[in-house]
Amino acid sequence: MSDVLIQMEGIDKAFPGVQALKDCRFELRSGEVHALMGENGAGKSTLMKVLTGVYQRDAGTMTLRGSELVVPNAKAAQDKGIAIIHQELNLAPDLTVAQNIFIGREPRKLGFLLNEKELNRKVEQLFQRLRLDLDPNELVGNLTVAKQQLAEIAKALSYNSEVLIMDEPTAALSDAEIEELFVIIRELRRSGVGIVYISHRMDELKRITDRVTVMRDGSYIGTVATAEVTNEQIIAMMVGREIYDSSKPKRREGKGEPVLEVEGLNRKGLKNISFKAHKGEIVGFAGLIGAGRTEVARAIFGADPIDSGEIRVKGRKLRLREPHDAVKAGIGYLSEDRKRFGCIVDMDVQMNVAAASMSSFTNRLGWIKEKRIAEAADKMVETLKVKTPHIRQEVKFLSGGNQQKIVIGKWLTRDCDILIFDEPTRGIDVGAKSEIYKLLNDLAASGKTILMISSELPEILRMSHRVIVMCEGRITGELDQDEATQERIMHLATLRG
Ligand SMILES: Nc1ncnc2c1ncn2[C@@H]1O[C@H](COP(=O)(O)OP(=O)(O)OP(=O)(O)O)[C@@H](O)[C@H]1O
Ligand SMILES: [Mg+2]
Repeated sequence: MSDVLIQMEGIDKAFPGVQALKDCRFELRSGEVHALMGENGAGKSTLMKVLTGVYQRDAGTMTLRGSELVVPNAKAAQDKGIAIIHQELNLAPDLTVAQNIFIGREPRKLGFLLNEKELNRKVEQLFQRLRLDLDPNELVGNLTVAKQQLAEIAKALSYNSEVLIMDEPTAALSDAEIEELFVIIRELRRSGVGIVYISHRMDELKRITDRVTVMRDGSYIGTVATAEVTNEQIIAMMVGREIYDSSKPKRREGKGEPVLEVEGLNRKGLKNISFKAHKGEIVGFAGLIGAGRTEVARAIFGADPIDSGEIRVKGRKLRLREPHDAVKAGIGYLSEDRKRFGCIVDMDVQMNVAAASMSSFTNRLGWIKEKRIAEAADKMVETLKVKTPHIRQEVKFLSGGNQQKIVIGKWLTRDCDILIFDEPTRGIDVGAKSEIYKLLNDLAASGKTILMISSELPEILRMSHRVIVMCEGRITGELDQDEATQERIMHLATLRG
């Protein structure tokens, strides 16, 4: 067929202890959005890294418009018009947005001096075309995860490539930003660009993709036209079994005692935050990106200082100077930014699992109880079905979703009374999602108090006993599980003061 851009066949790729790709195949046509689906660790990112020269394949053939495609490194792929937005954000925090986007190809004057004016002009043009609300001169390190993701997208688009690979581009975006992205994707499709789209959000499939290729355990399962299959059929292809979803939270019998009380909390970006969370309760925090939910979590965890207000745990007032104080008071925080705060990617699985509970894994002389750590890690890998060859594997070698499971496991291993989960299922596949929901329900049933921040409304509605909605740094409403609906939450989430 003349409109075939990319053809990959018989692709094998092994890492020590892992056969990541087995006889894998993939075809991309010009002017299509092609979804690549599969469970965490199925091999999606690896296949795309082989295509873009990040990894070299062990076997197989690749062609671009019918001619052999040779990509000895990532630069070679870029030069051939193949751009990728990687799942893990790759920007340099100490450079500005503009510098990041044009890194390695900055406009020069006199041959070597950086032409800053020209750089800024180019970036502003790019942002205008994409209708992005980003300041080119802001340091990337100061941006939220969502903004960093937008900057990554802008960078990939700036190459004007004919193949564009997006590895979970919407994981950190809110609905409004996703809409903007879809407008851009549709424009690119019209102009003939071939787009590979990787996402765990099932609802996006039907809306934006033309075909779906499903992978399982590194193997090719099949390619279908999106319009001709149901989501259930795709999930069945992905997991090879049916998923039972028994995650609806049980009704609470009355309210338990208040475990966490926040009163009149003020700091930059937060206005007079007051709420209570009870024993055995899951409190959902809803709101748009930037509403202040993560800021509340960080204040309770002692990561940011507060100007005024009180935080009490079981009636006792906390003095939080740093996260360590919160951890001592029995608070665990699963951060939305797992790369910066979540896990230590250069350490192995077992040390990450133990990281939040070191004191219980050392004896009085400070010796580390290696065997106990290994047992805890094995248990966690089993409970969360983490895909890793062994618990000594460095976390950076795990797939994105499996890294997220490690962060969850870290806080589960430490027996906290209060657990704050910030976007707990971001990047997690559908099967593992229901495992995590079940786990949260079990934790609540066993008497833990859970705060769950999520940008996915269905997740909030399904998990929360009570929903707190925020807008522009204030709490704009509280809804009980019977009152909470998508419409009511959206109304409160946009209720400006
Ligand atoms: N550099 C590496 N070294 C060792 N193993 C690796 C490496 N990169 C990937 N793997 C392994 O290869 C397998 C496939 O990983 P990959 O990242 O492609 O999965 P994925 O389908 O993208 O999953 P996710 O949805 O979680 O992002 C996993 O078992 C992973 O641990
Ligand atoms: Mg991946």
